[in-house]
This record gives sequence, structure tokens and C-alpha cells, in this order.
Amino acid sequence: MSTFGAIIAGTGSALPSKRLTNDDLAKMVDTNDEWITQRTGIKERRIAAEGETTGTLGLEAAKKALAAASLSPKDLDLIVCGTITPEMTFPSTGCFIARDLGLNDTPAFDVQAACSGFLFALDVGAQYVRSGRHRNVLVLGTETISRLTDYTDRGSCILFGDGAGAVVLQRCDDPDRGWIYGSLHADGNGSHMLYCPPGSRHPISKEMIEKRQQYMKINGREVYKFAVTRFEELITDAMVKCNLTADKVSMIIPHQVNQRIIDSAITKLGFPMEKVFVNIEKYGNTSSASVPIALDEAMRAGRIKHGDVLIFVAFGAGLTWANAVVRI
Ligand code: COA
Repeated sequence: MSTFGAIIAGTGSALPSKRLTNDDLAKMVDTNDEWITQRTGIKERRIAAEGETTGTLGLEAAKKALAAASLSPKDLDLIVCGTITPEMTFPSTGCFIARDLGLNDTPAFDVQAACSGFLFALDVGAQYVRSGRHRNVLVLGTETISRLTDYTDRGSCILFGDGAGAVVLQRCDDPDRGWIYGSLHADGNGSHMLYCPPGSRHPISKEMIEKRQQYMKINGREVYKFAVTRFEELITDAMVKCNLTADKVSMIIPHQVNQRIIDSAITKLGFPMEKVFVNIEKYGNTSSASVPIALDEAMRAGRIKHGDVLIFVAFGAGLTWANAVVRI
């Protein structure tokens, strides 16, 4: 039992202005708007311009989250950044964002759990706050997935977009407020379903680039089945562990993976669809950024009020999957 709570004191998000529509993609690969809309629910996604990076998008989201929390960067005790598209292999993207916030002695590091990355980062941040070790922790999910996307592969390029979301977790005296529950999972046996080759196992070479192995690879059909099953399990787990019934849950914010995956899982659970926040049509799958962008949009649209109970769920490469329950 924790002495402290970790409330969400502020949220922020950032999206590149450049839009890539389904019709734009139809000029690049053999696809069309009808196929993409029916199979995924996505109409367009945002793509980072030259000079726009995981770090710059994260910085913008961080500044908005700090402003919403009425804090300045120096109030931060820790920065935890979820990403699979870091500024560089190293230093961490968290270090770049800390530097650009004007900080030079605030711990910052990255958490890599693919599309579950924000929920892993949130879990880490919440433990620091709830234990009493830190007062204000910035948690981000920020990505430029377009930089890993093969725009000749219609099976993957239609799915992803760029963006960033951030929250400030803040210590409070009520342990039943803010982040109250989370579970994290990983199974590397599913690593072949969704991966991006460059690294120690596949150092970058001319041959690799000729074979387009610098880009992410997806077995969409396998991931689809995995996502539907885990989605249901994660929601059920959150409700059982927190003793919640559907009427006590104000909103589910899922990873924006595919409208059909979301519909299928929610229908099986018998949960009212109007309580599920979906913005996939505008941004596609932004990996670790999808949950915090959706949270920020719901907050700014006035759809979340004091006392609301939210469930977050996400799943992705690893395989990884995670949930969290937050009382606002
Ligand atoms: N446009 C037109 N046709 C396409 C296409 C595209 N962009 N992509 C695939 N197709 C074709 C396939 O080649 C296949 O043709 P075939 O039957 O002649 O072989 C057909 O459409 C059906 O392909 P399938 O892969 O079974 O489609 P699907 O209904 O599973 O939808 C995804 C494909 C990728 C949209 C879906 O599987 C998905 O969303 N998976 C999860 C995505 C993911 O991994 N996200 C990241 C994890 S968080």
C-alpha cells in the first residue's frame, strides 16, 4: 500500500502539420481509400517534416503538459520517455528533451516497449511518485514512426503516423487518486511478428539497405489476433483488480491500433462504445504516442472530469502489453 498518490497534473500533445491521406498513399502503393478505411478506420496520418523529430515533438508536448500543470521545467524531478524511434541510438531521447527544456541535472531516460511504451513509462513514473521519491515526473510517448516505415510496403505504410503526448505525474496525499493500478507484460517469443532489424544483430550495411531491411516488418494478421485477445484480457484484468463495473468506468483509452480491433474487443466485452475514445481516423497508429495524444485530446475537449475513472490499454512489438487505471 502506497502512502502517496500520483495524479495527472497536466497533459500535452504535439502533431506534425503535414497530412498523409489515404488518397496520397494510393498514389504510392497499390491500395485505396475504401480498403484502408474499412480495414483500419484510418483516413489520414501526420508525418514529421525534415527537422521535426521525436525529440522536437516530445519537447512541444512536454511544454504543453507543464503549462497545463502550472509548472516550469525546473520543477521536474525525472523524465521518462517511451519511444521506439529515438533521436539517435544514444544518447536517450529523454536526455535531448531535458536539455531542450533547459535542464542539466535532471535524470532522464527512455523506456522501449514499442506501442505499449507510454504505459510502461507511466508505470515507472508512477512508482517513483507513489513511493515518495519524486514529486513531479514527466512521462512521454513520442514517435516519428514514418522514419522506420517502408513506403513501398502496403501492408505497413498505411498504418502509422507521427506524434507525441506527455503527462506530468504529481505527488498527492491520497493514494486512491491518480494512477491506481497497472500491469505490464512481455513475451519475446512473438518478436518475429513485428520488428525493425537494424542493431547489434543486423548492423547497418549497404546490403541491408539494398534489401530494405532498415524498415519495420509486420505480420499484420498475426498481430491482429494477438491484439484482440490481449485487449479483452487487459480490460477485464483492470476491472477485476480495481473492483470496477462498466458503470464505474468513465472512459477507456486504447492504443489506436485499428478501429476493427477496438470494435471487436469492445463488442466481445459488451462495453458501451461511447465510453471508448478513438481518434485513429486522424492520426493512424502513433505507437507509444497514441494513448497520451488521445488522453490530451479528451482532456482538452472537456470529456474528462474530476473523479472520472479511466482505463488505458496498449499492446505492441516485443510482444508487449499493458494496462493502467487512473482516477482523475
Ligand atoms: N491495400 C489493399 N490491399 C491490401 C493492403 C492494402 N494496404 N494490405 C494488404 N492487402 C491485401 C492483402 O495482400 C490480402 O490480399 P490476398 O487476400 O490476396 O492475400 C488482403 O488484402 C487481406 O490481407 P490481410 O492481411 O488478411 O488483411 P487484414 O484484414 O488482416 O488487415 C491489417 C490488414 C494490417 C490492416 C490488419 O491485419 C491489422 O491492423 N493488423 C495489426 C496491425 C499492426 O501490427 N499494428 C501494429 C501493432 S500495435
